[in-house]
Amino acid sequence: MKLHTPHPVIPVNQLQAGMYVIAIISQTGGMEIAQMGLVTTRQQIDDLVRRGVLTVRVDLARSKLAGIEQIISPGLATLSGSSQRTAGSANGEGRELKIRRLYQEARELQGKFIRQLKAGEPIDITPLAEVAEEMVDTMFTHGDAMLCLARIRAKDAYLMEHSMNVAILLANFGRYLGLERSVLKELTLGGLLHDVGKIMTPDEVLNKPGKLTDEEFTIMRQHVVHSYDILSQTPGITATMLEVAANHHERLDGTGYPSHLKGDQLSLHTRMSGIVDVYDAVTADRVYKQGMQPTQAFRILLKGADHHFDRGLVTKFIKCMGVYPVGTLVQLSNQRLAIVMQRNEQQPLKPVVKVIYHATQRHYLDVQWLDLAKSGVQESIESTVDPKEFGISLAHFV
Ligand SMILES: [Fe+2]
Repeated sequence: MKLHTPHPVIPVNQLQAGMYVIAIISQTGGMEIAQMGLVTTRQQIDDLVRRGVLTVRVDLARSKLAGIEQIISPGLATLSGSSQRTAGSANGEGRELKIRRLYQEARELQGKFIRQLKAGEPIDITPLAEVAEEMVDTMFTHGDAMLCLARIRAKDAYLMEHSMNVAILLANFGRYLGLERSVLKELTLGGLLHDVGKIMTPDEVLNKPGKLTDEEFTIMRQHVVHSYDILSQTPGITATMLEVAANHHERLDGTGYPSHLKGDQLSLHTRMSGIVDVYDAVTADRVYKQGMQPTQAFRILLKGADHHFDRGLVTKFIKCMGVYPVGTLVQLSNQRLAIVMQRNEQQPLKPVVKVIYHATQRHYLDVQWLDLAKSGVQESIESTVDPKEFGISLAHFV
């Protein structure tokens, strides 16, 4: 088993003398631990365990161990990005890397697009359109892996992450609704660009923790008008893409903005965009607030059904995301915690999961893939769990 990163994250119980620790990744309790570096004694490791450290990042290059890649167990290698699978997946590693690369490429192109806009340079959306096309194709072949990336996000670069996720979620939703591939590509590119007008919104408003004043809210709302202005002057932008950008804050009862569209004036694409945009916004972790769990987000959407959102579409959106959306942490009937990795459309309560942690013993387990629908598997999902409760960072496991 080869490690793909020289800086893998490992559970503290796999730490050995000779390893060089560069960061504590997760721990219970708030005790500050400043002392990083080469671990020389067993005592140091015990100390970390006592202080509630769960996982650490080690620097293999600086570690003083011969053949360290062999020392780290296969289960661990899984933690650091490669994959070992026992259920429900096909030719994992190459495929995962490809999808990650695609995600990365889309982000980079988006960044470039924003830089060009800010610099007033001529804009070419062709590369982004191509990447959107590839994203839609990937959604058909490896939708769960794409959705997993959408669920795991960084707190910084919110605008880009949010746009990426709206694009992925729109592609997923549109596919579920049976829309044509050409439309899916437009929706995906529309999603990538829908909030581009935020580059004109002052940072102090855009990233203000807490409530906006009325005046700030007015400024914030302007981003939609800016998006429309920018995109309507960009060659290659279609009516569907413009619609996602211009209308994603419109609501059925006319309380949305900027045009206060009402009822039938909201097209299918507009209705889809509103649902997806809110879902991603409320589940996002921000620097100043923690994101909701998907199930809570579904509740918000259902609460807004009829007056804000199309009830039928909300129901379909929830169905297409699955009762337990990909990337959700769940507790199994035997107290083990697992991440949902692949949906099961026929049996939504029985997705494929990756078991990672013991909830009552509070320690990491060797990673195990488990298909809950497989005959002979006794375990079932009891509840969804907030990863923060256990100090678990999902990003290390997908
Ligand atoms: Fe927006």
